[in-house]
Amino acid sequence: MHDAARPAPWTDAAAPASADNDRAAFYAALAEELDALLTGEPDATANAANAAAAIYHSLGALNWAGFYFLRGAELVLGPFQGRPACVRIPLGKGVCGTAAATRRPVLVPDVHAFPGHIACDAASRSELVVPLLDGGRLLGVLDLDSPQVARFDAADQAGCETLAAVLVRHLAASVLT
Ligand code: SME
Repeated sequence: MHDAARPAPWTDAAAPASADNDRAAFYAALAEELDALLTGEPDATANAANAAAAIYHSLGALNWAGFYFLRGAELVLGPFQGRPACVRIPLGKGVCGTAAATRRPVLVPDVHAFPGHIACDAASRSELVVPLLDGGRLLGVLDLDSPQVARFDAADQAGCETLAAVLVRHLAASVLT
């Protein structure tokens, strides 16, 4: 539950953490807040939309945060915050398609150095994509873009994997229906 003495991470009162141990605590708190935000609402679109907004306004230095969901053999754009983005990404293509095909997070410090990167927003310079896995079932990916080179590191990846686990719990029942 939300601690009334502590501002939710997506409010203006909360500042993103920077040191690694601070960030582990930051992501743990954000995961808890996200869980509380999504609990009790069964609609996947509503939950994904609120999750995208919460993440976008919590992490700092992002220009895009959102979802692509698996539809057949391709990823299709889901709720997000940021500029309009490409709608369909085949598995194996771009950073998102690579994360989906390998079922592994993909951390790209410099998108210009990633062969096949799909540039939806020319401002994006680094990217982190985490697959949403419900056991063996791939639901889609969480995609974060930043205008800063090397915005994301291993602590962000680990933190976002924690967020992804929360998201999967709330989206798994309804995301493909
Ligand atoms: N850059 C991604 C495409 C999605 S946008 O960043 C929102 C990619 O290479 O898959």
